[in-house]
Amino acid sequence: MRPVTILAIESSCDETSAAICVDGKILSNHIANQTVHEKYGGVVPELASRAHMQNIVPVVHSALQTAFPGAPDLTSIDAVAFTQAPGLIGSLLVGTQFAKSLALSLNKPLIGVHHMQAHVLANLIDENRPSFPFLCLTVSGGHTQIVLAKSPLELEVIGETIDDAAGEAFDKTAKLLGLPYPGGPLIDKYAKLGDPLRFKFAEPQIPELDFSFSGLKTSVLYFLQKQEPGFIEQNLHDLCASVQHTIINILLKKVKKAVQETGVKQVCIAGGVSANSGLRTALQELGVKHKWQTFIPKFEYCTDNAAMIAITAYYKYQASQFTGLEASPSARAEW
Ligand code: KG4
Ligand code: ZN
Repeated sequence: MRPVTILAIESSCDETSAAICVDGKILSNHIANQTVHEKYGGVVPELASRAHMQNIVPVVHSALQTAFPGAPDLTSIDAVAFTQAPGLIGSLLVGTQFAKSLALSLNKPLIGVHHMQAHVLANLIDENRPSFPFLCLTVSGGHTQIVLAKSPLELEVIGETIDDAAGEAFDKTAKLLGLPYPGGPLIDKYAKLGDPLRFKFAEPQIPELDFSFSGLKTSVLYFLQKQEPGFIEQNLHDLCASVQHTIINILLKKVKKAVQETGVKQVCIAGGVSANSGLRTALQELGVKHKWQTFIPKFEYCTDNAAMIAITAYYKYQASQFTGLEASPSARAEW
């Protein structure tokens, strides 16, 4: 049988990415990061859309060059995939329109992909992958979910945040500590040098498998307001380590509960926050302690990337789940 080649595009937030996947194997995954947002302390939707417009052609071109060196061959593409939802609507529109135009001009099918489903299936990219069923803690800038994956296309959200996402908890507390956006990677970096048990911050008591992070931000804010000038600078590493420790505790307590309730002992993580070194280590340690099998995607497949869109589209292609050219993106979307 002829191999199935998919060109995938991701543009849901502030990363423009394109990937080529052949029979489920990723041949290329190019990502253009947008630095324009740093000085605003968060992603500015209008600026993100404009940057996607500038980046999309060069990024797709680079992905094709890497996958087919010397002779980028559009004719070998069997389907064009794109992130359809959820995300910033202007950003999604750029990728959607590009994918639709390409699919139309090549006369190939289009595959719209759910961004959160793709984060979970990023765990299927590498050779060392979980079998079904597995649990996935998906932690990003916009979402925090525990997903029970029964098959590639049967994913059930069994727990989620009732307010802020884990990535927001990192970014908002980083802002309180005077760190630039996105603060998650910086907290990670400084936490390595600090004492995680030095400061205690509030951990919410939320029922079932749901999460809450808004109280943590308030707890850090009130704590900092009581301190003398210069306190943050003198204690930055311990503050970062303690904040990170609290976020990891909140997340992993619920993962433990999810394993107990479902009996599923293969546990994955996904999403931008899964790049956090403390979370990666803590999950692995918990896995060893409780005899779970744990799976952690490579860094480049944790934050937003088109490889995860491509792998999801590969499964949708096999199930003939195609999307019509009349498709439009959606900022919010149910599974
Ligand atoms: O999945 P993602 O790239 O984009 C969304 O779909 O939201 O996640 C971005 C989030 C940001 O909040 C960022 O601060 C966080 O992931 N993040 C991290 C780390 N790397 C990225 N948080 C903690 N530690 C990291 N190393
Ligand atoms: Zn994401």
